[in-house]
Amino acid sequence: MKLLEILNFSKEYLQKYSFSKPRLESEKLIATVLKLDRITLYAYFDMELTAEQKDKIKRYLREMARGRIGFDELIQKKGEFELDMKNYKEENFELLKKSIEYLEKHQVPNARLDAEYIFAHILKVSRVTLTLNLNKKIEEEDKNKIREMLVARGRDRKPLQYLLGEWEFYGYPFKVDERVLIPRADTEILVEQCKYLMGDIVIPKIVDIGTGSGAIAISLGKELPNAHVLGIDISEGALTLANENRDLNKAQNVKFIRSDIFSTLRDEKYKNVKFNLIVSNPPYIPTEEYKTLMPEVLKYEPKNALTDDGDGYYFYEKISKEANEFLTKDGYLAFEVGYNQAEKVAEFMRENNFDVISIVKDYGGIDRVVIGKRREEN
Ligand SMILES: C[S@@+](CC[C@H](N)C(=O)[O-])C[C@H]1O[C@@H](n2cnc3c(N)ncnc32)[C@H](O)[C@@H]1O
Repeated sequence: MKLLEILNFSKEYLQKYSFSKPRLESEKLIATVLKLDRITLYAYFDMELTAEQKDKIKRYLREMARGRIGFDELIQKKGEFELDMKNYKEENFELLKKSIEYLEKHQVPNARLDAEYIFAHILKVSRVTLTLNLNKKIEEEDKNKIREMLVARGRDRKPLQYLLGEWEFYGYPFKVDERVLIPRADTEILVEQCKYLMGDIVIPKIVDIGTGSGAIAISLGKELPNAHVLGIDISEGALTLANENRDLNKAQNVKFIRSDIFSTLRDEKYKNVKFNLIVSNPPYIPTEEYKTLMPEVLKYEPKNALTDDGDGYYFYEKISKEANEFLTKDGYLAFEVGYNQAEKVAEFMRENNFDVISIVKDYGGIDRVVIGKRREEN
């Protein structure tokens, strides 16, 4: 029986016994038994009730009818619900507060947000409705799971995204673990630009070099349903996860292959394929800077996804040099770049037969995306 059905049942039952406000009485009773706020009750209209909850509601309905008393009067007499709810709410808010303090003690940035994400994940509710759900009892098993996650996040500094196992990128869900870089919000700007570039092409062919979780390739595949998107990575682990993400997002127009940059594209099978767009967010952190990254990144994110073990320009230079071979004659090359790298990357493009058509800033005002268009050959 669903919540809406029991609400209607309860209203009709009280109506039969001539209660003056049967709906209001029913809402109060059901909200209390389910430990929800009455105002938000209808947001859960589809919720399936347990046998225990249904029995409790029916028992209290009978008591109200028998004594001809409203719900407020009944709980005053019994006292049990009020006590329950008050205790859970106080106890749970205290637990959340302590959890935030614990993360702060370990210098976790955005401690409140992370604690809320952890609670919401374990309690299987959205972060937005977490506060409402803290009225309910948290089972001991769930409390233990919350504690374990807090320790991993605080003491061990494991990234929140790896703990949750899933993260949103461009509005799509992506499984993430230590085999892949966590997709960053700034990279969405690159996707946005690519989508715009490919807008007029009927069947765009796109290749994403260093695809990792498949975030760029799959988002483009979803946004451009006519496109054929190929994601390339050197890491087998990343490719396994990228394939899972393709299935998760039902992006049938996206494929993944193992390749060291362009190497596999020179195989017989791909020899004649020309792409309208080569996109890449390659490892671009210089080796010196890599050592100074946050513990979350250093300890958990794959090193070969972050740094080229050099000056940070290896992939930009190599891809710019070789891209012409794989592009249609009016094809595009689009890179995400690191802080202060845009100008030099633009120079690589110009030296290699590309007109730089735009350099786009990220949300922090830093040049983040460089786009080149293959120059007309004379
Ligand atoms: C910065 S991550 C980008 C991941 C994903 N595209 C994103 O934007 O979230 C770079 C990716 O390049 C891959 N990579 C590193 N060296 C490579 C190579 N020689 N050929 C192909 N991919 C490589 C790494 O495995 C990693 O997944």
